[in-house]
Amino acid sequence: MLIRHLTSVNLLDTQHILSIFERADYFSKLTNNNQLDILKGKIVANLFFENSTRTRFSFEIAAKKLGADVINFHSESSSIAKGETLLDTLKTFEALGVDTAIIRHSDDAFIESVKDKFKFNVVNAGAGKKEHPSQSLLDLFTMKQEFGDLSKLKILICGDILSSRVAKSNISALEKFGAKIYLAGPKDLLPSVDELPENCELSSIDEALKVADVAMFLRIQHERHHLVEVNLDTYNSDYGLNSERIKLLKPSAIIMHPGPFNRDIEISSELIECEQSRIFKQMENGVFTRMAILEWMNK
Ligand code: CP
Repeated sequence: MLIRHLTSVNLLDTQHILSIFERADYFSKLTNNNQLDILKGKIVANLFFENSTRTRFSFEIAAKKLGADVINFHSESSSIAKGETLLDTLKTFEALGVDTAIIRHSDDAFIESVKDKFKFNVVNAGAGKKEHPSQSLLDLFTMKQEFGDLSKLKILICGDILSSRVAKSNISALEKFGAKIYLAGPKDLLPSVDELPENCELSSIDEALKVADVAMFLRIQHERHHLVEVNLDTYNSDYGLNSERIKLLKPSAIIMHPGPFNRDIEISSELIECEQSRIFKQMENGVFTRMAILEWMNK
């Protein structure tokens, strides 16, 4: 079997991304009764060294829908607690016959550094502050379902951009399609202007909301920056989507959030399931997009 990795959206060109979307669209139209055997005989291992709900379980459901056997690793109850190294743990999964390892780790570089050391495919399921390629693919798939052409879209990404692997992967993937991106949020949580790609600019949240087709909100990743002070009492009125600010949004625009969301901070509770919200649609699309990713990797 050819070994394939998905550690970064930068490994994919637009044609490849569109072909993943075609398959995700195909999988989205199947009924639950369709028994697939595309991954029959394959073993998919979920190796999460950092917490997750959406990514871990949607990869598990995606793999099971394709007929794979899935194993879930919990570092707290594993032999890591007895002093085994992470590399020896991965070597163990290779010896056990794993075909695809879905890895999440808090270190920006860990997944990239191990990907060619073992005889299994590696999916980056979230690497520190750096990349979250499968989240980016499901986000773009959701935008494509809504608008068709990604190249004309104007996208606001608001919140803790500096710590967000989702923002970084989305900026890179959307840049490939030529979409325009506006970044907003607390000054200390934004990149500097000279680090931005050409299609990306810093903006006030209110100015960007008026022109955006997609307004994506991100949680503050307190676990990743202990030195930055953010005032949670005023965050929603300063940078959050609330019932007053949503009036700036075009009626055709959609609201997105990769989750987990913090109610009444980056988004007011009553807007999470409002008509323009696609937050739960993103989660649903996560299964179909991850089915398409796993299918491609195991060809
Ligand atoms: N969006 C996302 O990565 O969610 P989880 O942390 O729950 O996997």
